[in-house]
Amino acid sequence: MTLKRNVQIVPSLLACDLSRMGEAIESVKAAGINWVSVDVMDGHFVPNLSFGPDHVRMAKKYGLTVDAHLMVNNPEEIAPWFVEAGADIVTVHIEATKNIRDLVRDIHKRGAKAGIALKPQTSAESVLGLLNEIDLVLVMTVDPGFGGASFLKAMLPKITSLRKAIDQDGLNCIIQADGGINSQTAVLAAQAGAHSLVAGTAIFGKEDPAAAALFLQEQVKKINDGGGF
Ligand code: DX5
Repeated sequence: MTLKRNVQIVPSLLACDLSRMGEAIESVKAAGINWVSVDVMDGHFVPNLSFGPDHVRMAKKYGLTVDAHLMVNNPEEIAPWFVEAGADIVTVHIEATKNIRDLVRDIHKRGAKAGIALKPQTSAESVLGLLNEIDLVLVMTVDPGFGGASFLKAMLPKITSLRKAIDQDGLNCIIQADGGINSQTAVLAAQAGAHSLVAGTAIFGKEDPAAAALFLQEQVKKINDGGGF
């Protein structure tokens, strides 16, 4: 069974004008976006620092789905903070824990959906046995830590093999691609089988983020209309 697909564009708030986050969220919401991504970085798992639970609390005030992508060394300790802050989905890196299954179950027990993120060098095989327990698998299409990096086309086969595994078993896990998503790479990732595309610079790096979000959604629309996977 192939999951009904409607490829979604998910703006990454890391790239927005941090002095006007509320306006940034409002602008993409006006363009029909219903999900934003909050990139959480601890300065250890990745060489950058970014958001905390209060940013999720703030973002949730706009009535959108909010995912917290935890690029942190101690996800067992930090994930509950983001569930408590109202994150709809908490995505943790498989590379950051030795107990990924317990961690996913804990996130679910606390009331949020659970995602697993894979760095570029981590194989799809590492998560195949968990696809039936998670709501989202995040394929990093850049090395995590910063916005504005170039899309790694070498990640496309990973997306496709995950999509095949999910469709084969009729699972509800969605595939999210994140990093270097723009009008060209969005189509590649969607054609490879991604359901959700996280974009920062391609949206908030533009003069008109609402128009940029709409443009990206238009690029993948033909995939939604059955022109793709
Ligand atoms: C990188 C983050 C990505 C990044 C995307 O570690 O996880 O979400 O902000 O930004 P762009 O779209 O600019 O690559």
